[in-house]
Amino acid sequence: MPLSISLNLFAWIDWSVQATISWILSNTFGSKNVSIVAEEDVQTLSEPESAGLLGKVASTVNECLAEASRYGLKGPDKSLGPSEILEAISCCNSNGGPLGRHWVLDPVDGTLGFVRGDQYAVALAFIDNGEVVVGVLGCPNYHMKRDRHNKQQQNHISSEVSLPSPDMLEEGCVMYTRKGTGEAWVQPLVYGDRKYEWPNFAKQVHVSPIDDPALATFCEPVERANSNHSYAAGLASSVGLRNKPLRVYSMVKYAAIAQGDAEIFMKFARAGYKEKIWDHAAGVLIVQEAGGVVTDAGGRSLDFSKGIYLESLDRGIVVCSGIKLHEKLIGAVYASWESSSL
Ligand SMILES: *[C@@H]1O[C@H](CO)[C@@H](O)[C@H](O)[C@H]1NC(C)=O
Ligand SMILES: *[C@@H]1O[C@H](CO)[C@@H](O)[C@H](O)[C@H]1NC(C)=O
Repeated sequence: MPLSISLNLFAWIDWSVQATISWILSNTFGSKNVSIVAEEDVQTLSEPESAGLLGKVASTVNECLAEASRYGLKGPDKSLGPSEILEAISCCNSNGGPLGRHWVLDPVDGTLGFVRGDQYAVALAFIDNGEVVVGVLGCPNYHMKRDRHNKQQQNHISSEVSLPSPDMLEEGCVMYTRKGTGEAWVQPLVYGDRKYEWPNFAKQVHVSPIDDPALATFCEPVERANSNHSYAAGLASSVGLRNKPLRVYSMVKYAAIAQGDAEIFMKFARAGYKEKIWDHAAGVLIVQEAGGVVTDAGGRSLDFSKGIYLESLDRGIVVCSGIKLHEKLIGAVYASWESSSL
């Protein structure tokens, strides 16, 4: 089966997540008062021959909202019908921009990872006058570090709750942050029937302290179509990286840097490709607040104020756990660029 067909079979997941989050945001902040920039549009789903698909999306959304009400979010009084589902998806039609406040959503980032039972993420960010101020990454197949003796963690675990058992930690995690706090947090996504109450199950994440390229690990997109692997390999060897690259689907790469599982994430898309803000906003802020550095390949900050694309992005994206690795890589980019035909 061609890949495009198999991915289309999963589009109902993207719509379901987008409708669920859109409905929750609209009902929390008032539908007239939220602007959402999101990946999916409603075109295909509103066509008459998509009725079956729409039904499937509706039942998934209603199931999710019923579940959400167990976690203290108010669900709808009665099940949402098809028109309400379409409305929830189609109201995510903002183009963002430099002014005002915008939610930025990638309902399922890394569809191929999702399809393969590998890494994928649900990514939500909040942009205020062009700056990302909140970032949340749900990573259903990515585990929290099992560092139970972490001091920070103990400080934030209240005494009457017990830690999730190790097998619970296998259930994926959610990572989140707010700009300027200097803190990024992670907590398990599923904990039996217990309701989460921050910060009972949460712990702070920090980038890795490793700044020796010989010990550092870099991650990059799995697919060659998304990043020039050979160019990244050239940079890696020129700065003295020795470990093999870790190829990871989706924004989980940002989570891996924030949590200290890798030190570097590099992405060099083909010339002419424009990066979308929903593929980066949440991850960038989480890495920065966890202590890392994110810039384009020219060393400049990413600009989330230009609408749905990272318009002025220079060549690629370089994410590092610390400034020393970052300086080396940016230096290597400049040194290499003349001879590369990217
Ligand atoms: C929502 O409304 C409140 C006032 O009720 C206002 O302060 C706030 O800026 C509005 N938010 C957005 C996103 O427009
Ligand atoms: C990838 O980068 C190399 C330089 O390292 C270049 O020769 C090659 O053309 C690039 N490939 C693509 C698809 O851009």
